[in-house]
Amino acid sequence: MSTITKKMDTQEAVHDFLPLEGTDYVEFYVGNAKQAAHYYMSAFGFQALAYAGPETGLKDRASYVVRQHKLTFVLTTPLHPGNDMADHIYKHGDGVKALSLRVKDAESAWKETTSRGAKSYMKPQRLKDDNGEVVISGIHTYGDTVHLFIERQNYKGAFMPGYRAWGNPLFCPADTGLLYVDHCVGNVGWNQMNPWVKFYEDVMGFKNILSFDDEDISTEYSALMSKVMSSGNGFVKFPINEPAEGKKKSQVEEYLEFYRGEGVQHVALATSDIVTTVRALMSRGVEFLKVPTTYYDDLLDRVGHIDEDLAPLKELGILVDRDNEGYLLQLFSKPVEDRPTLFFEIIQRKGAKSFGKGNFKALFEAIEREQEARGNL
Ligand code: FE2
Repeated sequence: MSTITKKMDTQEAVHDFLPLEGTDYVEFYVGNAKQAAHYYMSAFGFQALAYAGPETGLKDRASYVVRQHKLTFVLTTPLHPGNDMADHIYKHGDGVKALSLRVKDAESAWKETTSRGAKSYMKPQRLKDDNGEVVISGIHTYGDTVHLFIERQNYKGAFMPGYRAWGNPLFCPADTGLLYVDHCVGNVGWNQMNPWVKFYEDVMGFKNILSFDDEDISTEYSALMSKVMSSGNGFVKFPINEPAEGKKKSQVEEYLEFYRGEGVQHVALATSDIVTTVRALMSRGVEFLKVPTTYYDDLLDRVGHIDEDLAPLKELGILVDRDNEGYLLQLFSKPVEDRPTLFFEIIQRKGAKSFGKGNFKALFEAIEREQEARGNL
């Protein structure tokens, strides 16, 4: 028995041409990185980690790196117009530029993906300083979004060469219990979901672990389709949404209109205690979508036994869903910029490794109430 298991493991290893160790960091292009970094520290509980800018030899940008447990955000702003960063912000507003993935070999990751059809964004580069070496490479994905491959096992510094340690001993907000990136969702255009599913299958060796059609995800007014792509080891999950025909404009269409194209819709942040985390985030000003309290009337009939008391979940508006392995608790923030584009999900998994479909309707009806208030439904 053990021999067979081992043999299968070996075969799996042979076929995993792009072994990913998880998300290394998420980089946002923003209009004002100094203030964005302050928002993620004060509202979300990140800690200051590293900085790069004119003082460290970068003439075209400033980047602030903040961290909470295994979660790292890089907030980057251009110092001049007429470059990719400035054009990105002009077109999309603040948004995610790079979903960076940790690898053991960034050169191999670039070769394996570009040889399978990925468009190169950055050839492998070796960055060195007194703390060691980071190798970085990258490919394009949907819209103007990119995946960077980060190899950092030979680096001991704060973040990577070019950055210096950064922090203010007088400003260290407590963390909110956010642990790591659970998944990142992309919104793509009409009829583009399947081509991007094929991209993740062919170019990155991902598998489609779950599909929702417009019957699964629809309200009275709007609909969307979604397919969940996962790396072989499950450490990286990228659901992809596409709008579907409905009576009114769907939330994906609203996103595509205001983001001016395809891009990251939400980043899901994991916690091991969602009630404490959400309470802390709310007290610091993070705004969440509200479901009607009737959502809780038949919740336990839908999801079965849960360990948590219902009262705090109802008070905070936390949603519960189930897959065939367990359940999960989740809550969605309102967009974190003025365009109705990027938002965050807070998620706690209790056995469930993928997603349920029970929450979609409640969530979308909550989003539609917001869309209606914006005049975009
Ligand atoms: Fe999500």
